[in-house]
Amino acid sequence: QVTRLADYRPPAWTVPAIALDFDLDDKATRVTSRLTVERGEGGPLVLDGEGLRLISLSVDGKPLGDGDYSYADDKLTITLNGDSHIVESVVEISPIANTQLMGLYASEGMLCTQCEAEGFRRITFFPDRPDVLSRFTVKMTADKARYPVLLSNGNRVAAGEGKDGRHWAEWEDPFPKPCYLFALVAGDLSALKDEFVTASGRKVELGIWVREADVPRCRHAMDALKSSMRWDEQVYGREYDLDLFNIVAVSDFNFGAMENKGLNIFNSKYILADADTATDLDFDNVAAVVAHEYFHNWTGNRITCRDWFQLSLKEGLTVYRDQEFSADHGSRAVKRIEDVRMLRAVQFQEDSGPLAHPVRPESYMEISNFYTATIYNKGAEVIRMLATLLGADRYRAGCDLYFDRHDGQAVTIEDWVKAHEDANGLDLTQFRRWYAQAGTPRVAVSSRYDAASKSLEIDLAQSTPPTPGQDSKAPFHIPLDVALFGRDSGARLGDPRLIELKDSSATIRLDDVAEPPVLSINRGFSAPIAIDAPQTREELAHLSAHDDDPFARYEALQRLALLTLTDAIRRGDEVADPALVDAVAATLDSGLDPAFIGEAVLLPSEAFIGDQMPTVDPDAIHGVREATRRTLGSQLNDRWWSAYRANRDNRYELNPEAKGRRRLKNVALGYLVADADPKAVSTTFEQFGDADNMTDRLAALGLLTSLEVGEREAALAAFHARYKNDPLVLDKWFATQALSTHPDALDQVIALSRHADFSRTNPNRFRALIGSFGANQPRFHAADGGGYAFLANEVLAVDGLNSQSAARMVQPLTRWRRFGADRAALMRAELERILATPGLSKDVYEVVSKGLA
Ligand code: ARG
Ligand code: ZN
Repeated sequence: QVTRLADYRPPAWTVPAIALDFDLDDKATRVTSRLTVERGEGGPLVLDGEGLRLISLSVDGKPLGDGDYSYADDKLTITLNGDSHIVESVVEISPIANTQLMGLYASEGMLCTQCEAEGFRRITFFPDRPDVLSRFTVKMTADKARYPVLLSNGNRVAAGEGKDGRHWAEWEDPFPKPCYLFALVAGDLSALKDEFVTASGRKVELGIWVREADVPRCRHAMDALKSSMRWDEQVYGREYDLDLFNIVAVSDFNFGAMENKGLNIFNSKYILADADTATDLDFDNVAAVVAHEYFHNWTGNRITCRDWFQLSLKEGLTVYRDQEFSADHGSRAVKRIEDVRMLRAVQFQEDSGPLAHPVRPESYMEISNFYTATIYNKGAEVIRMLATLLGADRYRAGCDLYFDRHDGQAVTIEDWVKAHEDANGLDLTQFRRWYAQAGTPRVAVSSRYDAASKSLEIDLAQSTPPTPGQDSKAPFHIPLDVALFGRDSGARLGDPRLIELKDSSATIRLDDVAEPPVLSINRGFSAPIAIDAPQTREELAHLSAHDDDPFARYEALQRLALLTLTDAIRRGDEVADPALVDAVAATLDSGLDPAFIGEAVLLPSEAFIGDQMPTVDPDAIHGVREATRRTLGSQLNDRWWSAYRANRDNRYELNPEAKGRRRLKNVALGYLVADADPKAVSTTFEQFGDADNMTDRLAALGLLTSLEVGEREAALAAFHARYKNDPLVLDKWFATQALSTHPDALDQVIALSRHADFSRTNPNRFRALIGSFGANQPRFHAADGGGYAFLANEVLAVDGLNSQSAARMVQPLTRWRRFGADRAALMRAELERILATPGLSKDVYEVVSKGLA
């Protein structure tokens, strides 16, 4: 049951056209499909089909009998003699019974689809692989009262009334596409409508379809859509290509959103936003996901993947594009900080664990398990490095050639790299290793300054730890952005420069270095690696005060904090280093952008601290980090209060400046509460009650939820009462409690798993409680294993309903090797218990068996 890249063969049959006819009903939908098939590589016609009730089959109008085909193990096999045939099938499926949310399913009374990666086979028989491109025509008939709106890809070409209160619509997509981009929606929906005129003058009708009451919450998404369309024209020269662009928001959705041609389907979490219900982060995420899905129109749809091993071809590239879009529409530095934080928190962990895989994997059991931070976020970093190495003009030339050459095709990552080589006359042979080798490279850095010759020698050595199936690694081509700052003057010495490390080790000599320097390296996180540099606290404090790259400044302060924290953990005491307190104070006094300060003064997360240690000790990490937060809170009490007050009394606005002020204000409040300043607790409770926006209200609720104070219960009850009818906000109520460091968090979470509002069939709700709890390092890793047992029970409870949810939630248990013997044994025991459970999904089986191996 393993699929391998090496086994790729072109399709035996192609399907230039498919006509679908849906007789929609939530209990039993009848799907008639007419495929035009043409001989490709040859052999029998094998179509995928999963859980379909076959009603009839015919070839060229002649019904097939039992002996003319076989349908077993999710494959329909028909032997065909000629080179071109019409294959017709009628099947029945049940949307309401579809809890996997793959294929055609029901969500709050509407019907919708999700086909990537392999959901189309749950709708009808088809070669469900991305290199079979077809022209789709879709007719659907449904009850008019229940489903007044009928949407699919492309353009609506006809519509009419049927009998018995039914009506129909016919849609046609002029662009051939793989079946994973097919979409259909039927429901009682209203649209926020708008219009966009492309650079060459095409008028595009835009619609965001939601329940009527939610229409006013779609404005932000619509504005983001229009700026994405403009940005792609300006930055990549890519225009939209249909007269219609529709988005539908649904409440039950396995992931963020889906880029179906002309009909994106979204998790409502990434569409609906207003000040009362969405945080600043939510607004940013809405814009980023809208942009991401829109950008897929060129990077994913016009040019798609040959096979699923090439997934990063579209996902890594599209993430890179949405990251740059966001950077261009807000603070570039803060965006970079957020992206790197996420990469380190999720992708670095993946890369150092049993599920590590290259950006282009070589095998999988279940492709759904490979929609990972490695494919998406490391994939984006690889493209960022390519853009850095080439420079803006050559990168654009490479992209232009890629679009010219491959428009309308299903291609490989190799084709992408080749386009950049050919456009620029380059050899990227070594660079390709970023796609093939897993693991996070480490680069050891040391330097010597020679005062007599005014030169600096930098020694660099790279190494990458082994990962499953890859014992030894060849050196990577690593772009390192470096700059020097005068130890005495604090001024930058010369221009920043890009060092390209290609060998396993190298010595770089820099001349004309006027004074003893402090080295700033991997600025802007120019490569997704870990740096081992024996920098002193003084040097780090110096960079945190003087570096002119905000990311590097942030990084210096983070590393200083990390040194302080890991030292204290090793020593077994909890005293914070005065150098850290001074550096945080200096950053607060720096007069820089509040958004930046708010990020820079946060301590590294407990998970990130754990990653730096040979064995993760969750209790020690939590103890020391909290103690350090207390120290910073009390020693800088005045500064936090002034940061709080200076940024408090502004009327709610949604712009980068206002968002930054809210951020810093709430970070400051967090430090004051950490120090148990009684005035801070009452201020937090007031802010919770008085806030005119969700960012401030939720920040206050989050702080109160971790405390053992009376205000905690009052705030949680008030929040629930106020938002009980808003599922997206209720998710925050669950997540806040699941992430709380309250000593009784585990019991509280167990109680919440029995709450009437908890749900295992709604992925957002399930993830809000169970996913958040799995990320709550100190409480999930409770020494008695109670957190592990709870998580395992939930995984088993959800697996039969939604195996993708289950496979995602089980992942924290696979990191058992990183913990001490007692915890490791408890975690393993839960994995073994899961593995021994009969009827496990392929999804969970893959994750758990790899996790134990
Ligand atoms: N292509 C979608 C996106 O990133 C995500 C689809 C996820 N599919 C899955 N099986 N996990 O925009
Ligand atoms: Zn994507």
